[in-house]
Amino acid sequence: MYRTHTCGELRIEHVGQEVTLAGWVAAVRDFGPLTFIDLRDRYGITQLVFDMQTNPELCESARRIGREWVIQARGKVRERSNKNPNRATGDIEIEVHQLSVLNPSKIPPFTIETHTDGGEELRMKYRYLDIRRDPVKEKLLFRARLAMETRLYLSSQGFVEIETPYLIKSTPEGARDFVVPSRLHPGQFYALPQSPQTFKQILMVAGMDKYFQIVKCFRDEDLRADRQPEFTQIDCEMSFVEREDVLQTFEGLIRHLYKSLLDIELGPFPRMTYEEAMTKYGTDKPDLRFDMVIHDISEHAKGKGFQVFDSAEIVAGLCVPQRANDFTNRIIKELTAWVQRPQIGAKGLVYIKWNADDTTKSSIGKFFDDETLRSWLAHMDARPGDIAFLLAGKKGETLRQLSELRLELAHRLELIPDDTVKPVWIVDFPLLEWDEDEQRFHAMHHPFTAPRDEDLPLLDSTDHSDHLRIKANAYDLVINGAEIGGGSIRIHDRTVQMKMFRLLGFSPEEVEAQFGFLLHAFEYGAPPHGGIAFGLDRLCAIMQNQKSIRDYIAFPKNNQGRDIMIDAPAPLEPHQLEELHLCIRNNAQD
Ligand code: AMO
Repeated sequence: MYRTHTCGELRIEHVGQEVTLAGWVAAVRDFGPLTFIDLRDRYGITQLVFDMQTNPELCESARRIGREWVIQARGKVRERSNKNPNRATGDIEIEVHQLSVLNPSKIPPFTIETHTDGGEELRMKYRYLDIRRDPVKEKLLFRARLAMETRLYLSSQGFVEIETPYLIKSTPEGARDFVVPSRLHPGQFYALPQSPQTFKQILMVAGMDKYFQIVKCFRDEDLRADRQPEFTQIDCEMSFVEREDVLQTFEGLIRHLYKSLLDIELGPFPRMTYEEAMTKYGTDKPDLRFDMVIHDISEHAKGKGFQVFDSAEIVAGLCVPQRANDFTNRIIKELTAWVQRPQIGAKGLVYIKWNADDTTKSSIGKFFDDETLRSWLAHMDARPGDIAFLLAGKKGETLRQLSELRLELAHRLELIPDDTVKPVWIVDFPLLEWDEDEQRFHAMHHPFTAPRDEDLPLLDSTDHSDHLRIKANAYDLVINGAEIGGGSIRIHDRTVQMKMFRLLGFSPEEVEAQFGFLLHAFEYGAPPHGGIAFGLDRLCAIMQNQKSIRDYIAFPKNNQGRDIMIDAPAPLEPHQLEELHLCIRNNAQD
């Protein structure tokens, strides 16, 4: 037996017991007469003590041991004279009388402690060492508990976990596919699924009624803090349901996860239409942990001879309550430079201060009289002591810029309470969006999303403006400004699905080639159905108030999409390329 207990287990009540522990050496402290070793495993750290007087030979061996060596120690549990209240095992230590080195270790390239000196790339290269650190380890453990609680909850609601294939066919869902060449079929490729969307719908046709899967999805898109090329979804689908059934069921799941993992009771989730979210917050992922809504003052600000406003589609702004004094000229200049960065893309930033002494000050004070500025402030619900910021330009762009500015202001002014959870369902998305470059429609969610019943007739219109008015029976769950999940009621009628494909610009031949399998399935009794998928990595990060999903993934990719531990992607051997029919002939040599 390698061990009798783990390194996180022993307490005062074990004093006097003979125990064997095994683990990694976190630290060796040599105090002459006494040498201490902190022994670490997944469960915690226990202090080992070696006494020069009673056992000099053993003490000498202990001194020679290095960090991260794997050792086994046998000894007696005793009460510590100087207890460590910050450690679960801090009341005791082990008086060691037998020690074996199970495996020595090279000196690790960074310190394996909560605050490490290792940079991001170095830690990713030595991910097995990084995972020994508490912050990473704890995140993986949290993820495991979240996955388990998800399975418990969904199983209790009658969902069955069914695996769907990873080697599938390319389907358009917004991002690029990762493809896998076929050896047996020259010139043909599998694609890795961006999501199991069509399979879960077919499982509904197959009568499985309630499906879920905790499943890897693959998307060849640019990486960000909240995006990885392979990530995990909690993917779900249900038959004979309407939107309300889906929202209730999965609100239940999220509530269960917050309660069981964090002991947080969430009330009913509010709903907000896409239109309201865009008008008030400039985004379909509003962070509702703080107020500060966008005010559209176009009708009051335009037509007064100020070119910037007159030529704009919209003049709109945000009002920061009671912080006018915080915005010195220098800070306003800084903020102006911030909105002008290419990532935000505003031309300039207008401010109007309503000072506490009731005077006003504005960057456009010379173009407008005081009364006009005050009237705008009134339309923005401002009070003395507030400062308003205005942007003007094309509607979509300006709202997006304001949504970014809103978050930036909140961060700078520390307006976001990090102990608050603000979920919201965003509903009634447009079904289609127009792609100017390609001059065609895209499905805003995906091509299988049903329009709202009342908008179905608009599918038959030949007028694009009618198509843009169609609302989808789709919903997103947003928590604290992050999109955690999205889904929809699906089209289950072959004719409607064909109309949708036609609107998206697919020819009947393309439809047959790409989605024939689904449309054929719809001919054999497809039940009304709908579902949702949550980003599991994202949900973990949001629940623990973390920006990055990376540490919730045991072996993530870096910003360039590389796994630097195993050094992937990597070239193939010429014979492998040949086998896969990917051989590129070098004509120059022929
Ligand atoms: P969607 O594309 O909205 O829907 O994805 C669902 C959720 O998955 C998460 N997510 C990601 N997480 C990490 N890295 C990524 N690259 C990434 N991309 C998406 C998000 C997102 O809300 N088949 C539909 C679902 C359905 O209709 O049922 C789908 O995949 O949290």
